[in-house]
Amino acid sequence: MRARESMGLLRPNEMTKIGITLSGTRCDVCVGPGLHAQTARWLRELGFSKRVVIITDSAVKRLYGTALEQYLVSDGFKVVILEVGGGEEQKSLQTALGLYNQLSDVYAERTTPILALGGGVIGDLSGFVAATYLRGVPLVQMPTTLLAQVDSSIGGKVAVNHGQLKNRIGAFYQPSLVISDTATLGTLGSREFANGLAEVIKSAVVWDKEFFAYLENSIDRIRALDGEALEETVVRSVRIKTEVVERDEKDLNLRNILNYGHTIGHAIETVSDFAIGHGEAVAIGMVAAARISNEMGVFDGGELVRLRSLIGRAGLPTEMPGLEAEAAVQAMRHDKKIHEGKLRFVLPRTIGEVFTTDEVSPSLIEEVLTCRKNEEA
Ligand SMILES: NC(=O)c1ccc[n+]([C@@H]2O[C@H](COP(=O)([O-])OP(=O)(O)OC[C@H]3O[C@@H](n4cnc5c(N)ncnc54)[C@H](O)[C@@H]3O)[C@@H](O)[C@H]2O)c1
Ligand SMILES: [Zn+2]
Repeated sequence: MRARESMGLLRPNEMTKIGITLSGTRCDVCVGPGLHAQTARWLRELGFSKRVVIITDSAVKRLYGTALEQYLVSDGFKVVILEVGGGEEQKSLQTALGLYNQLSDVYAERTTPILALGGGVIGDLSGFVAATYLRGVPLVQMPTTLLAQVDSSIGGKVAVNHGQLKNRIGAFYQPSLVISDTATLGTLGSREFANGLAEVIKSAVVWDKEFFAYLENSIDRIRALDGEALEETVVRSVRIKTEVVERDEKDLNLRNILNYGHTIGHAIETVSDFAIGHGEAVAIGMVAAARISNEMGVFDGGELVRLRSLIGRAGLPTEMPGLEAEAAVQAMRHDKKIHEGKLRFVLPRTIGEVFTTDEVSPSLIEEVLTCRKNEEA
């Protein structure tokens, strides 16, 4: 457990509000420490009913759910907490069905919001339930992992898995509000934290070279849970995702740049049978994609060194640990991002800018994954 005292909890009124406008509707993303305590006020401002439903998992309920319930009850709200188990397997139609059954006892008014309190699993699942129940009820995302705060709570993609197929059944459904209480990040395990850092670094590489430089200067403070550095990191990552998503709400083109590191990353996750976590796999994928770009004569060797160094300092791997590179290449051929039979890659042109290509040969992918090719960097 990380010390919450170091999170800046003593300044609960400080926060940053980022507006995101999608489908003509504005949603505020509030980022800062200690924000759960302000939830009641924001719900009132949005005109929701005095009854709310919190969907969460058992671990997050214990850490933050009960306290959130108390904040709301003391402000006159009636609170129902629906609890699911933890883990990716909860993102299923079966769990959604269980939640629909429980919701039918609760819903008196359509203005009763669902508060999704937890990581990306809870956000995606609760968002899917909110999008479909009564053809849509209000949704408030309350992300408690770094990944969920910087990535999954922004952009309106909600889904459940279909067997082994991830996010196969879903919708675009925007929340009415996102409350990212950065103090909750203090209890994340270090692996979960690094997982989110991979998406943070990804945002900087695809969009914002100044943010990348900021991360180079601040990564130690961020990992030490310095309150200010954490808030700044979440805010800047949210701004990047917001800008990209606002320009391509329905994921038709530009949003694809957020898949940087993910084509190889997904393959690595699959061949490791998910022993390698998502962020770790994306980290290896980002370095591999940068090496491919470097081999193609695009990405500068010095920038490759900077990228690899930052990823390492973030506590993430930069190379495949003893896995068959060929197996990873095979797995990539089954990736949904394959475009007309060719592998589509997002590669860095420079730190802060990426390009998309389907002209990467499988042999080059294999070479950079096995590190057979000597690096110029
Ligand atoms: N919708 C999108 O755009 C989008 C984008 C990226 C990822 N995702 C999805 O997000 C999911 C992964 O999310 P995740 O990485 O947050 O994992 P997760 O939701 O499984 O959470 C990881 C673990 O951390 C625990 N936890 C959550 N908050 C905590 C806290 N503050 N302190 C201690 N423990 C805490 C949870 O109980 C869980 O066991 C995947 O299903 C992925 O598909 C969605
Ligand atoms: Zn990701």
